[in-house]
Amino acid sequence: TIRAVVRGVGHYLPERVVPNSEFEKTLDTSDEWIRSRSGIERRHFAAEGEATSDLATHAARAALRDAGLEPQDIDAIVVATSTPDFTFPSVATMVQGNLGMTSGFAFDVQAVCAGFVFALSNANAMIQTGQARRVLVIGAETFSRIMDWTDRGTCVLFGDGAGALVLEAQEGTGTNADRGILSMDLNSDGRHRDILYVDGGPSSNQSTGVLRMQGKEVFRHAIEKLAQTAHTSLARAGLSPEDVTWIVPHQANLRIIKGTAQKMGLDMDRVVVTVQDHGNTSAASIPLALSVGKERGQIHEGDVIVTEAIGGGLAWGSVVLRW
Ligand code: ACO
Repeated sequence: TIRAVVRGVGHYLPERVVPNSEFEKTLDTSDEWIRSRSGIERRHFAAEGEATSDLATHAARAALRDAGLEPQDIDAIVVATSTPDFTFPSVATMVQGNLGMTSGFAFDVQAVCAGFVFALSNANAMIQTGQARRVLVIGAETFSRIMDWTDRGTCVLFGDGAGALVLEAQEGTGTNADRGILSMDLNSDGRHRDILYVDGGPSSNQSTGVLRMQGKEVFRHAIEKLAQTAHTSLARAGLSPEDVTWIVPHQANLRIIKGTAQKMGLDMDRVVVTVQDHGNTSAASIPLALSVGKERGQIHEGDVIVTEAIGGGLAWGSVVLRW
């Protein structure tokens, strides 16, 4: 059988780090409130003129370096983002241009915070059906561009960043026999549009809009749905929670991350947590956490990893892979 195996990983964070204390200057909030409610201590914000495609290109180059590959070795680029530079073209084709690739194909996937899980599923399907042998899967966001800076309930929670994986088709033989993407589960429920959305767009009011969220409502759905999807994809892989080396969750909120691990019956020492340093980077958070988790020496070849995410739509899902 052909499996989509992780051959490289990388990430990029904009230079500017913004600690919680900076919000105390302009909002009725505190470092203590933000930390205790979300686990977030700081986040990165892109510089003026630094766009999502720039972040994505940096992360792509880092993943290619890690894989020991050149841009021309890649057949396809999938970028998960809800904050593209332009309405069109896709961020993915801009990355393709930046990398100097003149063949292959590229497109974006939009499932907000669950975008990377949906992109992985897509890339896996293209590899399994022989449409591509090597796929760059990128999550890249500049949520700082869609914040309402007067809304303390949202603007303290998000950050900018990008992460990328190189997936490669490998025959399941020898030591690689059980590596790669093993299973997945995708879901959405459009009835919940109003609890998390951006109030602008080309076909509504021709503005960029800002993020609107009923935090408590999102929270209420999150733990239940994340634990459920993780169980479903693990069962599809013939695995149970005890087989999991690492949960690499979407990094939205430490309380959601802890609640989900607890519901799965797993201790926090099996969870890769980066939310304290990155805030919620939406579709970028999982590949960022995978890259940082590897850099920290947490993630090793052969580890069983469950990634799970939920976001606007609602859209949610999970992927099980052996690193
Ligand atoms: N500083 C100080 N006070 C604040 C702040 C702030 N930054 N933000 C809100 N408050 C106030 C509220 O106004 C409210 O005051 P009130 O009681 O006088 O009205 C009070 O704090 C409590 O607000 P709650 O909403 O009850 O606080 P809660 O404990 O639910 O925490 C939070 C809010 C952090 C948004 C939480 O609901 C949450 O994490 N929800 C999930 C949202 C999320 O993670 N979304 C990310 C996108 S989707 C995803 O990726 C999962």
